[in-house]
Amino acid sequence: MQGGGEQREMWGSRIGFILAAAGSAIGLGNIWRFPYVLGESGGFAFLVVYIFFVLFIGIPIMAAELAIGRGSGRNPVGAFRLLKAGTPWWLVGAMGILTGVIILSYYSVVAGWTLNYVIKAVATFDTAFATSETAEGTFNHFLSSSGQQVLFHFLFMILCIVVVSQGIKGGIERWSKILMPTLLVLLVLLIVRAVTLPGAGAGLAFLLQPDFTKLNLNVILTALGQAFYSLSLGMGAIITYGSYLNKKENLFSSATTIAGLDMGIALMAGLAIFPAVFAMGFEASSGPGLTYIVLPRVFAELPAGQILAIIFFVLLSIAALTSAISLLEVMVTFVTDELKWPRSRATIIMAAVAFVLGVPSALGFGVWSEITIFGQSFFDASDFITANVMLPLGGLFIALFVGWGWDIEKVKKEISMGHTTLRFFTVWIWILRIAAPIALLAIFISNIAA
Ligand code: PHE
Repeated sequence: MQGGGEQREMWGSRIGFILAAAGSAIGLGNIWRFPYVLGESGGFAFLVVYIFFVLFIGIPIMAAELAIGRGSGRNPVGAFRLLKAGTPWWLVGAMGILTGVIILSYYSVVAGWTLNYVIKAVATFDTAFATSETAEGTFNHFLSSSGQQVLFHFLFMILCIVVVSQGIKGGIERWSKILMPTLLVLLVLLIVRAVTLPGAGAGLAFLLQPDFTKLNLNVILTALGQAFYSLSLGMGAIITYGSYLNKKENLFSSATTIAGLDMGIALMAGLAIFPAVFAMGFEASSGPGLTYIVLPRVFAELPAGQILAIIFFVLLSIAALTSAISLLEVMVTFVTDELKWPRSRATIIMAAVAFVLGVPSALGFGVWSEITIFGQSFFDASDFITANVMLPLGGLFIALFVGWGWDIEKVKKEISMGHTTLRFFTVWIWILRIAAPIALLAIFISNIAA
């Protein structure tokens, strides 16, 4: 029986669930963050470490989150309360929901930039990105236009409401089945263009040439943090999506498929971006501005560049939307489970909360630029505290819960549903018990010490 005792909606199909979860994982983290972090961390060496962490830490924790979600059939707070009643474990779920609200608040601001850039690519492409100065000016001007920042943050939140209010099967699943294949096609188009440019080889070499001299502790921890963020782990999004999953699915293979898709798209984003950046003579390590300043410039130098720019920003908007809806769904599932609110009311109110919380982030580039928290803007502080502190901490407790806190026989039973053998079970449980907690504690400590 599912949590709450009453009929709970379920994913309509395996592929629908996989695409929705991959949609959560594949986001700004893959297409906006991954390429520039990779660029700053020296390319290939970072890539190898990142892949290692996805395989050996990311996939096991994703399977752990799916097990918690499916085993309870509840939102993150309700899940821990059901599985370990009368203990403080539910606080892990509560922290997850809080993390989700904060991430959504600033994520929606960046997603709003992307929507705005779709319009810029369509309407003012020729003038806005004609030279490096105009491209930079366009971005800075947009950042400091507070009205626009709030407007596009708002518009993006409306899109999230439209999808999430339609429910799991009719909303998130249906939209993921349309949007994720579209994203893949658009990305392939960009890659074909990028790798066929004269001079693209330098970008490929940057990605694929073994050079381990750049490797240091910082790069290793950045790679782990990126793997974690990119897979949507540590805050209950995967617990929530797992709570709508039927007992016939194999959790290990689901986690592997989702992580594989996520990694594949991140690599493809690298393949679409670096060859073009190098071919046009730009720097790889340009930080967050890579997407909104360098890339539009790269496109402007190419024949039919306007079409490429439109494709790119539509793609980025899609990636952002399918991730943001998973963040919103965590909160919506929480209130529909716990307070029995109707979905439409839950969606609107929770989106409104995230919207309001995002306003200081949106204004921080303009009228509120004086206001700082610990010397950082509201936007940077929200990103820092969630990605570097709360997610690793959440992941740490999720690993410890499944490894030590939850009853091992029950864990085994949950995993064996949908599995023919328990071949990987022992390795998995020991990763959750020892290896993952050590790795996550390391990023947590190094991030707060930084
Ligand atoms: N995985 C998303 C990305 O890569 C971000 C995200 C984190 C979404 C946590 C949901 C939960 O952009």
